Amino acid sequence: MGLPDGPRTPRMVQMIEWIARPLSYMESCAQRYGDPFTAGFGVFPIIFVSNPQAIQAIFAVDQAHFDAGRANSILQPILGDHSLILLDGTQHQRQRRLLTPPFHGERMRVYGNLIGEIASRVSAQWPEGQPFAMRPFMQQISMQVILQAVFGLDVGQRFDRLEKLLFTMLDSIGSPLSSSLLFFKGLQKSWGSWSPWGRFLYQRHQIDELIYAEIAQRRTEVDPSRTDIFNLLLSARDEHDQPMTDIELHDELITLLVAGHETTATALSWALYWICTLPEVHERLVRELDTLAPDADPSSLLQLPYLNAVCQETLRLYPVAMITFPRVAKLPFQLMGYQIEAGTAVAPCIYLLHRRPDLYPEPERFRPERFLERQYSPFEFLPFGGGNRRCIGMAFALLEMKLVLATILVRFDLILAEKGPILPARRGVTLAPSTGVHMIARRRPSNSPQPAPKTDRLRSL
Ligand code: HEM
Repeated sequence: MGLPDGPRTPRMVQMIEWIARPLSYMESCAQRYGDPFTAGFGVFPIIFVSNPQAIQAIFAVDQAHFDAGRANSILQPILGDHSLILLDGTQHQRQRRLLTPPFHGERMRVYGNLIGEIASRVSAQWPEGQPFAMRPFMQQISMQVILQAVFGLDVGQRFDRLEKLLFTMLDSIGSPLSSSLLFFKGLQKSWGSWSPWGRFLYQRHQIDELIYAEIAQRRTEVDPSRTDIFNLLLSARDEHDQPMTDIELHDELITLLVAGHETTATALSWALYWICTLPEVHERLVRELDTLAPDADPSSLLQLPYLNAVCQETLRLYPVAMITFPRVAKLPFQLMGYQIEAGTAVAPCIYLLHRRPDLYPEPERFRPERFLERQYSPFEFLPFGGGNRRCIGMAFALLEMKLVLATILVRFDLILAEKGPILPARRGVTLAPSTGVHMIARRRPSNSPQPAPKTDRLRSL
């Protein structure tokens, strides 16, 4: 069989639907054409797949049969040509080998302390008893965490400028309308700094200057005692004993900043939203946090089953990435009875997979217990993708989610201050809450009978 069926509306119409209403586009295609279906908005046909066995088969032959980097070219203007996300083949393998170790092992302990400190510093700014938008604070936390973990930058002038510029640049392509700039090459024309693309280029240029200035400084002031990821990349050597060039370093650094910041901030905003909306979830979570011994290490949070289930359910219901990177077939490939020709892309569809009623009964409901009752395979639950492109920041993001949630929940009672339920909307290439997630925070009395006594350690971070 040739390609699976899919909408025949013109490419431009499908593209606009995919940008403006991605969830209804996927849902209506799945309803009409089933699984898999072929979307016709890209330069090549993209087959959306939400069958776990088919996803397993794709991940099993990832490297040999597919390229993913070239389907990510819309991110080139932000990340540059040498970004891990845009590479394929041996170049991808090589860069991935360099970038993976900093996100594992002993280093995670250092990051754990850093995350707790930043979360408590940022949440101390919340106005007591007044409604405020939570999402910008989650962005602030995740930006500071990633800037310090990746760059090891201390709060100071370069840090502040980089933080502000990155916010502004990512915001300028955040809404469904402005994200069209990425999807339509024709809109990428600069008519000076007042035009949307001109402004984007100007901001990117300023960010580049700051990063190159930092690279130059760090190359001259080598300090082996530093624990940041930048330092590891500076000293990394490939199989020919060659260090990374300035351009490679720049592109990987910006990749980590962009990939690690918005994604985690979005996941945290959703988690807080669900916790505030559902009192039974809040109560159970706080009760579990209360079981931590007073002198428990922050990393013991990783072992708490309900906290883990809340994070997983958050990433299931509205996955930050709706699809994995599309994989472009290099060779013909058999998928669910279809013959996929070279040049066709397949995209495991995280959103539709996570809503399969056979895997997740009542899929619309936020019910963390499902992750306690059942073990899901990496082909049934994949918020971080899989195969040879699986997110390298997965452990880091989960650590950050757990530490930030725990730090906030032992200090504050939160009340949702939104008029209705919050719906998801496209934000750049991700899915995020459509509002700022407004809340009212009240500091828990320090003699609070609930979690205070046993979570001193988190309070004091
Ligand atoms: C909740 C937070 C996050 C989510 C939901 C997420 C999700 C994803 C997904 C779905 C992919 C594509 C995987 C695939 O196609 O199979 C990916 C790739 C990637 N992520 Fe994440 N991510 C998160 C946080 C992070 C963090 C904290 C970092 C780094 C600091 C990071 C760095 C990357 C990189 C570099 C890639 C590209 C991997 C490659 O091409 O080999 N992400 N992420």
